[in-house]
Amino acid sequence: CGALGWPRAVQLMMLFSVFKGNTELPTAVNITWSSINFKTILQWQPKPSGYFYTVEIHGQTSDTKKKCTLTTETECDVTDALRNVKETYTAHILSVQSTGMDNFEEPPFASSEKFTPYNQTVLGKPEIQHYTQDSKLNIVFQDPLTPYMFPNGSFQSIRDIFKHDLEYKLYYWKDQSSGKKDATTKSNTFEISVDNKNNYCFYIQAIIPSRRENRTGQESMVLCTSVGRTILDGMYLVNYVMLSLALQEKSALIFEYISYFLEV
Ligand SMILES: *[C@@H]1O[C@H](CO)[C@@H](O)[C@H](O)[C@H]1NC(C)=O
Ligand SMILES: *[C@@H]1O[C@H](CO)[C@@H](O)[C@H](O)[C@H]1NC(C)=O
Ligand SMILES: *[C@@H]1O[C@H](CO)[C@@H](O)[C@H](O)[C@H]1NC(C)=O
Ligand SMILES: *[C@@H]1O[C@H](CO)[C@@H](O)[C@H](O)[C@H]1NC(C)=O
Repeated sequence: CGALGWPRAVQLMMLFSVFKGNTELPTAVNITWSSINFKTILQWQPKPSGYFYTVEIHGQTSDTKKKCTLTTETECDVTDALRNVKETYTAHILSVQSTGMDNFEEPPFASSEKFTPYNQTVLGKPEIQHYTQDSKLNIVFQDPLTPYMFPNGSFQSIRDIFKHDLEYKLYYWKDQSSGKKDATTKSNTFEISVDNKNNYCFYIQAIIPSRRENRTGQESMVLCTSVGRTILDGMYLVNYVMLSLALQEKSALIFEYISYFLEV
């Protein structure tokens, strides 16, 4: 005889319907990790209708962390659950009927692929701060920042995390030519001997030689030097002055023209 006085068969039926109700919830598909400079977003399908998703991040050694509890979105920023960047994580996307059901049954879930931030986050574009050219091409650039902070509140750069695993590659070429050369540095500057009569174009990308996948990062914007710059600037100024003079004359003419009609 059951504790609540229900016949055994009814109890089983109730249990079965709860179980059945849960397993019929759609589970997430097409789960993807998008990660750049350690900012990591998990995305999946389909949009929920009449249920919710909750994300669980399972590490190898750290405790399971819940993120985006009972969300109706199909993405979740899991950055702060992946702080131990060398650990390998798996995400479970739980499909949950409603707030009350949460504790009754294991909700159905789908598992993501494994993700190791240190090995898989994409290296973002380096930011070029300053460049000059005479017989040397000098470039100063900054490490991309991560969303992780030091205790003092300043953001850690990718170098603070990758340390000696991080390098940068410079690709440079004479303006109007296609033969690219390259150079590598572990610092934040390049100093390359060049022909001081030519302009050069270049871009930079971070690289982690020890990685097997995603070794090279995103390319910075392409910039070009202009050794003839002062002369060109002078010509530009002259042209600009002449153009403004011409425009002024023209507007004076238009003004006369309008005045003429108004008088008539
Ligand atoms: C999952 O991805 C496949 C291939 O891109 C697509 O055909 C399918 O519609 C996606 N599923 C959902 C539920 O969006
Ligand atoms: C914060 O701490 C880091 C690491 O100790 C240090 O490199 C950085 O300069 C500090 N930033 C500020 C604003 O004090
Ligand atoms: C991360 O990359 C390093 C170097 O390629 C490799 O030795 C290590 O096994 C990788 N870790 C994982 C979890 O893939
Ligand atoms: C990173 O590597 C994976 C596996 O090789 C690849 O599918 C993905 O497109 C790469 N991501 C980028 C941004 O290059």
